Amino acid sequence: MYTTLLTQLENGVLTVTINRPDKMNALNKDVIAELGQVVDEIYNNAEIKTALFTGAGEKAFVAGADISEFTTLDKDGGMELARRGADLVFNRIENCSKPIVAAINGFALGGGCELAMSCHFRTASENAKFGQPEVNLGLIPGYGGTQRLTKLIGKGKAMELILTADMIGAEEAKSLGLVNHVFPIADLVTKTKDILLKIQTKAPIAVGHSIALVNDASNCHPDGLAHEIERFGACFATEDTKEGVSAFLNKRKAAFQGK
Ligand code: COA
Repeated sequence: MYTTLLTQLENGVLTVTINRPDKMNALNKDVIAELGQVVDEIYNNAEIKTALFTGAGEKAFVAGADISEFTTLDKDGGMELARRGADLVFNRIENCSKPIVAAINGFALGGGCELAMSCHFRTASENAKFGQPEVNLGLIPGYGGTQRLTKLIGKGKAMELILTADMIGAEEAKSLGLVNHVFPIADLVTKTKDILLKIQTKAPIAVGHSIALVNDASNCHPDGLAHEIERFGACFATEDTKEGVSAFLNKRKAAFQGK
């Protein structure tokens, strides 16, 4: 039914595996569209009680938005890409009344880290790596990263990670509160499912109210997500973004001019 996702429903837990391992499970248009469909399923199928998102293989959860789709984008196209992701996937995951957890099995970079952060909480394997490397491309996070990372780990650390594009490992991510548990990779999905199965023994309506209220307590600035989309789009009108994207695709170092 899906071409970029694998899904399995077992004991009320829907496991969604993003399945483009040769491209580090990067989020291209098809993945975003299918994630939107799977989120519809989670909302509408009463047999699904909770959901778990993970990535295929042992290397990557999701290494970001698919950079090869950035070459033709202008300002409006950039804004449209970001807004479509927010509307179809990221904001709907965050606001779902059924618990959705990310089990991060490798690189969670850019849009991958943002996908994980839109989930209600996160677990990781010992080899997981996190980062918002968009400035390497002359870009900024566009799927909510500037807002959700700041909420999750605080201003100073979020600022440093976003400005340096540095990656951090699973233990540091745990110490910052970005992930709740670190498991050996072989146990990641099972141990994460165990948490979801525990939640499934609780009253679903109370669980749904709890998600909404914890979200209320930690909601982003009302304009923050909208401003991020505008500024993400604005980057595509710069020479630096063209240079950064071309440098990545041609496997060379970018030379930015500030233009
Ligand atoms: N978009 C498109 N393609 C991607 C990708 C992305 N975000 N991330 C990885 N890929 C592709 C690579 O281009 C490569 O494709 P190829 O085999 O056709 O050349 C393949 O996935 C494997 O990646 P590679 O870079 O060879 O693996 P690596 O182990 O050397 O490095 C990463 C892994 C994740 C560190 C590196 O791929 C990377 O930096 N990716 C981009 C991360 C990023 O900037 N994300 C934010 C996007 S806004």
